[in-house]
Amino acid sequence: MEIGAASPPRRLVALCEQIGRDQVAVVVHDFYGRLQAEDMMRLFFVGMGDFTEHEALIADFWWTAMGGKLGQPRAFDILARHRALGVTAEALQRWLQLFEATLREHLPPELAQRWLQLALGIADVMRRRLQLGE
Ligand code: HEM
Repeated sequence: MEIGAASPPRRLVALCEQIGRDQVAVVVHDFYGRLQAEDMMRLFFVGMGDFTEHEALIADFWWTAMGGKLGQPRAFDILARHRALGVTAEALQRWLQLFEATLREHLPPELAQRWLQLALGIADVMRRRLQLGE
């Protein structure tokens, strides 16, 4: 571009637009499969009836966390739910490792990193508010 020429208009593209609804669902589905495959993680989900419904809820959650809109808005109460589950620091660490591996397998590095940052931020809040320690 010539010096002094007007720069092209720039637009910040929301993460939801870059990843897309279908890909969010694919990542969530793969991730819950990985959680189920590990004894330490599977135990937290034994009381859960319908996994398809849970995955749909989680996909909606991520979609809104990435800036997306839902046709039918939903409320989430992450802290209360995980407090009731008795989540531990060790389980949370493993959750994050599995989540990162899933993201890296499905997405280009930059998008995987941005989604991971969202999860790390929420995990930090969980750690502090649920007093899990490191
Ligand atoms: C040790 C780690 C974790 C375990 C074992 C775990 C497990 C679960 C389980 C069993 C539920 C269903 C609870 C219920 O319906 O009563 C749930 C809900 C949920 N989890 Fe996790 N989770 C973990 C970490 C996380 C993290 C780090 C995030 C987000 C970054 C997250 C996001 C959610 C969301 C959005 C819901 C739905 C909350 C709602 O119904 O309002 N979870 N989780």
